[in-house]
Amino acid sequence: MRTVLLGAPGSGKGTQAKRLEDDFGWPQVSTGDLLRAAVASGSELGLKAKAIMDAGNLVSDEIVLAIIKDRLAEDDAANGFVLDGFPRNGTQAADLETVLADLGFSLDCAVLMDVGFDILMKRLTGRRTCSVTGQLLNVYFSPQSDLDACTEAGGELIQRADDNEETIGNRLEVYQRETEPLIEYYRDAGLLRTVAAEGSPEDVYARLRTALGIGGN
Ligand code: AP5
Ligand code: MG
Repeated sequence: MRTVLLGAPGSGKGTQAKRLEDDFGWPQVSTGDLLRAAVASGSELGLKAKAIMDAGNLVSDEIVLAIIKDRLAEDDAANGFVLDGFPRNGTQAADLETVLADLGFSLDCAVLMDVGFDILMKRLTGRRTCSVTGQLLNVYFSPQSDLDACTEAGGELIQRADDNEETIGNRLEVYQRETEPLIEYYRDAGLLRTVAAEGSPEDVYARLRTALGIGGN
């Protein structure tokens, strides 16, 4: 499966891409995660990206294209991948087609994770990542037992630098302005599928699998 998860910040792209990776082996390719790794490593690219990400703006298309080109050429992406957070504007969507054509691939579909804007703020301000397991959690939505399991294992619940209300507000605006037009782009290409992405992560995953034609157990 070669697919793009489209959706606003907090729509659950990372949560669901990880599930697909675990169950089917298609790597989750998240430009946000790759950029955060570059920031953490202190590389030149990371230094350039940090301030832009902290403000909730888009990192340059050139930087992101270089990252995605390298990542999709890796062996583990040969049999499929789930793109999470890329493409984010028309230029990136066109770049993706070129990169895939060069690799001899094409997209099977693009899935819109559809969530009302009102619940995104709560999902984003509540998001935490366990420092031990890397598990994505939420102080408002995750079972208390999952949150406790992290701290009991000696982990900390880490909050992302861009998950504060001011930056989230800008990320949502950038999404509406730059990324939402891709919904029409993929609809026109006949590739768009839409998943109602509210409700429990398990229910959303079941709907996502159905949309991808891999429903059932
Ligand atoms: P990125 O990391 O891609 O962030 P984003 O698009 O803002 O999306 P999020 O990761 O915030 O949300 P998500 O949809 O993955 O939701 P999640 O599953 O975590 O990008 C960050 C920055 O990097 C950008 O602002 C930009 O600067 C830069 N960047 C990245 N890609 C770029 C590109 N292509 N071009 C240029 N710049 C780029 O879920 C959120 C929370 O909700 C979690 O706590 C989760 O546990 C919870 N949750 C999930 N599903 C449910 C559910 N069904 N019910 C209850 N809670 C749920
Ligand atoms: Mg994410």
